[in-house]
Amino acid sequence: MRPEPVSDTLVFFGATGDLAYKMIFPALQAMVKRGRLDVPIIGVAKPDWNAERFRARVRESVTERGGLDPAAFDKLASLIQYVEGDYAAPDTYARLRRALGKAKRPLFYLAIPPALFPTVIAGLKSFPSSRTSRVIVEKPFGRDLATAKKLNRLLLSAFPESGIFRVDHYLGKEPVQNIIYFRFSNSFLEPIWNRDFVRSVQITMAEDFGVKGRGKLYEELGAVRDVVQNHLLQVLACLAMDAPKDSSAEALRDQKARLLKAVAPVAVRDTVRGQFRGYRDDPDIAPDSHVETYAAIRLRIDSERWRGVPFLIRAGKSLAVTCTEALVELKAPARTVFGERLSGRGDVNYLRFRLGPEVAIALGVRSKFPGERMTGEQTELLALTRPLASGGTGAYERLLSDAMHGDETLFASEESVEAQWRVVEPILDHRLQPPSVYEPGTWGPAEAERLAAPFGGWHTPGVTGRK
Ligand code: BG6
Repeated sequence: MRPEPVSDTLVFFGATGDLAYKMIFPALQAMVKRGRLDVPIIGVAKPDWNAERFRARVRESVTERGGLDPAAFDKLASLIQYVEGDYAAPDTYARLRRALGKAKRPLFYLAIPPALFPTVIAGLKSFPSSRTSRVIVEKPFGRDLATAKKLNRLLLSAFPESGIFRVDHYLGKEPVQNIIYFRFSNSFLEPIWNRDFVRSVQITMAEDFGVKGRGKLYEELGAVRDVVQNHLLQVLACLAMDAPKDSSAEALRDQKARLLKAVAPVAVRDTVRGQFRGYRDDPDIAPDSHVETYAAIRLRIDSERWRGVPFLIRAGKSLAVTCTEALVELKAPARTVFGERLSGRGDVNYLRFRLGPEVAIALGVRSKFPGERMTGEQTELLALTRPLASGGTGAYERLLSDAMHGDETLFASEESVEAQWRVVEPILDHRLQPPSVYEPGTWGPAEAERLAAPFGGWHTPGVTGRK
């Protein structure tokens, strides 16, 4: 059951920016189309635009990204207003207050660079509705543990904890939610989901494109801050957490936080950083940049269930394919009955969760070749395969709608975010380990092999047999 009350106005800071254009506007149109959005929408940004110009931008976005739906767009356009102004100027907030009118529970979406959060939050603090309003902040939530804590204090100075929504859009993705559903709704998994049966767990997030005009921002991040600290550790939590007592936001978020707190901080020796050749040619990138566009790490989880099981994560830009996939590989059967040596990847059972660009859940099993001999081959039982609905905007639609209803289930808790920073904190300093250069279109630096070699090597997504 969703807790009431519903937010009565949506306010976007950064309304003329990239995130709003690519993700938020298509999500809004989809929400209107489903009858899930019928409140005033106020865009706030610096350019000296009027509402007409802003609506034209929204139209352009939905046309390019989601496909214009004339009826839904007209309705959306009728809800839209625009407030122009510098975020540091008190006037901007005075105009916004006028535009908010009698709204009692606005939802503020901070689709702006984190450096602007303090200015905007200070501007919103004085609003009479501040204790009943909600705020959505995008990742990265801080740059490290200390700044994440600071940001949290700042948010809490203006909003109640239950009104703070930390977006990790991976949590809004159907296949990520399905990891949890699949694990806890099937009885055959839980008895084997532990150190006695699982040999290793791998998560690969490969992208076959570079930083796509986001060079300036990416220089502040690198792969660890961009996707490992948030998206991939959340996926790991979904794969490894204990069963929550029910599906409430509290129970789910508690179990995830418990798991993340048990992940040991990653050691530099268990990390390989890479940078694709050509990254520094971008005019926005420092010619001697040490920022990693690839990271591979090996983690351990200090718990009865997982002690001794390696958790391997790798993520990179300009790799061979675009694909995100998790593989939970089981140990070989204890007894060799048919004389086959079953030990490598492609011989043993595994569960494969393909999270994007298409979705799949598959179980790797062996079955007998027809004939006299008792030998077999690896095959896959496919539980599910389908395209990922509407790319990333499906996740935004879900998250925005949940935040408007005050439902925190799919948002990162402060506890989780801080635990995630603790895990990666030892490898955040780029100077500790300069990245190795790798060729675009490959699987990253060869050195990364050493992390996975003792466990059969990296699983190459898309290739289900032996590498
Ligand atoms: C974002 C990262 O959070 O996630 C990007 O900043 C990355 O660098 C993107 O490309 C991937 O999201 P998705 O939904 O396309 O897998």
